[in-house]
Amino acid sequence: MASQRFTTHSAEETVALGRKLAAKLKPPKLVVLRGELGAGKTTLVKGIAEGFQAAAQEQVTSPTFTLIHEYRGPKADVFHVDLYRVDTERELETLGLDDLWDERSVLLIEWGEKFARFERERDAEIALERKGENGRRIVFTAETRRRGGRRGKGKGKR
Ligand SMILES: Nc1ncnc2c1ncn2[C@@H]1O[C@H](COP(=O)(O)OP(=O)(O)OP(=O)(O)O)[C@@H](O)[C@H]1O
Ligand SMILES: [Mg+2]
Repeated sequence: MASQRFTTHSAEETVALGRKLAAKLKPPKLVVLRGELGAGKTTLVKGIAEGFQAAAQEQVTSPTFTLIHEYRGPKADVFHVDLYRVDTERELETLGLDDLWDERSVLLIEWGEKFARFERERDAEIALERKGENGRRIVFTAETRRRGGRRGKGKGKR
C-alpha cells in the first residue's frame, strides 16, 4: 500500500487537493473517506467532483439525508455516499450501491469504514484529521492489490 500525506490550512486548500487527487482516481474506484464529523470529507469531495468536471464545488453538498448524490462528468460518474445514518447491512443493501458500479464509477463513501465489506472492496482510502481550527492532515492510501473479478455490476457475483 502506498500512502501520500498532505496538510491543508483552509477549506479552499482541501478543495484544491481534491482536484489534484481526482487525477489519481482513474475509474472504476471505490474510495472510503475517513474522518470525524467536520473533518472535511465533503469539502474534499467538492474538489474531487470538480477534478472530474462532474460538478462545480458549490453544487456538491452533503448527502446526509439523501444518502447518495450523483455527479456525471465526461469521463466518470462520481457518486458521493454518506453512511453516517446507515447502521445495518439491510439498510445498506437497500441503497443498491452495487447497481451504481460500472467502468465509469467513482464511489466516494463517507463513513464507509462502518461496514467490513468496504474495508475489503475499497481501492483507496482518504483519511482526514483535524489539526486545529483550519488545519487538516490528509492521508491518501491506494490499495496495490490486483484488480478484476471483484465486483460485478449488481449481478450478485460476490
Ligand atoms: N483545511 C480544511 N479542510 C476542510 N475543511 C475545513 C478546513 N478548515 C476548515 N474547514 C471547515 O470544516 C468543515 C468541514 O466540513 P465537511 O462537511 O467537509 O466535513 P465532513 O467530514 O464531511 O463531516 P460530516 O461527517 O459531518 O459529513 C467545513 O465547515 C469547512 O469550511
Ligand atoms: Mg460530510
